[in-house]
Amino acid sequence: MTARNDRTDIPERIDPALPKVELHLHLEGAAPPGFIRGLAKEKHIDIAGIFDDHGHYRYRDFPDFLKVYEAASTTLQTPEDFLRLTLAVLEQSARDGVIYSEVFLSPDFCGGGDLSAWREYLHAIEEAAQQAENTMGITLRGVVTCIRHFGPRKARAVARCAAETAGDFITGFGIAGNEAMGHPRDFTYAFDMAREAGLRLTAHAGEWGGPQSVRDALTHLRVERIGHGVRAIEDLALVDELAERGIVLEVCPGSNVALGLYPSFAAHPVARLRERGVGITLSTDDPPFFHTSNTREYEALARAFDWSEADFRAINTDAARAAFCDEPTRERLLKRLEA
Ligand code: HPA
Ligand code: ZN
Repeated sequence: MTARNDRTDIPERIDPALPKVELHLHLEGAAPPGFIRGLAKEKHIDIAGIFDDHGHYRYRDFPDFLKVYEAASTTLQTPEDFLRLTLAVLEQSARDGVIYSEVFLSPDFCGGGDLSAWREYLHAIEEAAQQAENTMGITLRGVVTCIRHFGPRKARAVARCAAETAGDFITGFGIAGNEAMGHPRDFTYAFDMAREAGLRLTAHAGEWGGPQSVRDALTHLRVERIGHGVRAIEDLALVDELAERGIVLEVCPGSNVALGLYPSFAAHPVARLRERGVGITLSTDDPPFFHTSNTREYEALARAFDWSEADFRAINTDAARAAFCDEPTRERLLKRLEA
């Protein structure tokens, strides 16, 4: 469908209820600032400095964003906090038409990083996911994620958490954090452990690092998806390799624009990557930090690239195909996307 309004220069509005598959969302990063302020008040934690006068998260640049993110996460101290957070996040996603969300879960941010309590936190998140599935029709799967700037030792411990809890709910393993720190080869052992436990693999790369960072993630971590990956556009041979190998990108345009990687949606390479045959999917990363939502992303992309509802439907079908879920779940998603 390429129907337009009467004004030919304005693409049709994308229906917010359009069913969506999101593959790149950080659980703590999706915490609304009001939710975090509420926890801080309950627990008498002073984190006033991370908010601006409007009550939004305040940060200067990507390293500062990571600091603010970690400060906000200090308020998440019990499994009950994670249960409430998961419900709040899934409610927002469901309102935005998301039917399936793959969420990065970081044991390092669960109750101060005491990994021995990981199962209790996971249990609470899973309980919230079950409630959300029953009441809102949204499915959640967890991708356990280590933090690159916490180093390879911590990553191995997190991979062990992932391996021990791999199953129907924890279906993947990934790495986030500061791409400028360390090298993917430092994390090979952690990714090997996760792979051997049957987990599917993704890595943040090609966001702050260039094409070589993407190549290194593919070589040393042997991932099948890349978080962001957008700077692959700086090397067309790599772009073609991604397309040929079916490596799917979890693209978060609003995140990249908010963090200053690109000056606007129109300047973002997502459309060029897609035109050249790379499998791209659309996600929000840490929506309250970037003043975005699934609906806002779609509307901004429709405006920037004249993408229609049919384009978004095709992208969501590709996302369902790339999801780290079991085949019956995938079939259900594909049916819902067709409807
Ligand atoms: N990049 C790296 N690490 C992150 C991000 C991101 O966009 N969001 C949360 N952790
Ligand atoms: Zn991310």
